[in-house]
Amino acid sequence: MWRVAVVGCGVGRNHIAQGYLRHPDKFRVQALCDIDEGALTAIADEFAVARRTRSFDEVLRMDDVDIVDICTPAALHFRQILGALSAGREVICEKPLVGALAEIDELIAAEKEAAGRVMPIFQYRYGNGVQKAKRIVDGGLAGKPYLATVETAWKRTAEYYQTPWRGRRQTEPGGVLLMHAIHNHDLVTWLMGPAASVFAQTATRVNPVEVEDCAVASLVMRNGALAALAATLGSQREISRLRLCFEHVTFESRTVPYSPGGDPWEIFAASPETEARIADASAGHRAVPSRYEGQFAAYHSALTTGAALPVSLADARASLELATALYHSAGAGALVTLPIAADHPSYHGWTNPKDSVR
Ligand SMILES: NC(=O)c1ccc[n+]([C@@H]2O[C@H](COP(=O)([O-])OP(=O)(O)OC[C@H]3O[C@@H](n4cnc5c(N)ncnc54)[C@H](O)[C@@H]3O)[C@@H](O)[C@H]2O)c1
Repeated sequence: MWRVAVVGCGVGRNHIAQGYLRHPDKFRVQALCDIDEGALTAIADEFAVARRTRSFDEVLRMDDVDIVDICTPAALHFRQILGALSAGREVICEKPLVGALAEIDELIAAEKEAAGRVMPIFQYRYGNGVQKAKRIVDGGLAGKPYLATVETAWKRTAEYYQTPWRGRRQTEPGGVLLMHAIHNHDLVTWLMGPAASVFAQTATRVNPVEVEDCAVASLVMRNGALAALAATLGSQREISRLRLCFEHVTFESRTVPYSPGGDPWEIFAASPETEARIADASAGHRAVPSRYEGQFAAYHSALTTGAALPVSLADARASLELATALYHSAGAGALVTLPIAADHPSYHGWTNPKDSVR
């Protein structure tokens, strides 16, 4: 039984309802923290959590808390993760983990010295469709990767931006690429490997905000495959869609916007022989619970056995490196090659493409 303090009662509520409460034998929500008294009381009452605090430092002093689960706005993550690691806790933190590669490298160094580890959230990986596709790719059945297309077509209105930290450059380091499409972009690199070069263009067309809400990008992956990304927050029908063409198989995700990884994924095999091998591989698939429930189940197993975390700082770093390259490209109007090294102008954070003078 691992004892958790959830910090931040926005998406933190989903961590409780869709994660911890589904595993009452594995986790107990020991404390809740939020600086907003109203949010704190509402969520603590809803889930009957007795211990409540408005102070993050007080959470760090609770010696009967094993895991600090950080669900606060992104600009706070870096300091709060460092604080929780220094206090000897295990740490979970929402996406985007931080807003600069320099920060994530500092976190990687801090984690090496700490008793606890950091698990970033990428709950979209937990769906049976994408998990089966991953098994087929990792088992070598898919063959040479050719091309992926990824659509993140969601909808955000003025109401969403009433939350003061959203849409403002100082408190939100990026828009649709960093805050929304990050999940689907993580899935494509999870299945097709890392990008070697990117060319991106961004625009703010849907809401009067300081960050981008539309983006397109073309990628060449390290293995030579191509990928096209398209993301908007102005789609009247919300969908997420991934389509990945490999030599022996084409995958099509379902289009449920916030859970594209779930079943069913369409799998088109190049031949009856491949189809039979895929059927064999799929028969060995063990169903996972979806989203937070699935990630937290895998997390519990890793904590208990000491095995590698299901999502690691290295995964968050790869995701942030791609985002950094995309923003740098959009700002510079140029092709950007990866990796992004420490002497790269965007290593300490990118310039908002809207503010770039080309
Ligand atoms: N994985 C996902 O699908 C997903 C979905 C939504 C949000 N998120 C991420 O979760 C994070 C939070 O987003 P949200 O939508 O829940 O925001 P939110 O504004 O709805 O909730 C954040 C909460 O944190 C509280 N807070 C702010 N500063 C605090 C502090 N110093 N200590 C304690 N509490 C503090 C706020 O009062 C607020 O209640 C962001 O990084 C966001 O990108 C992830």
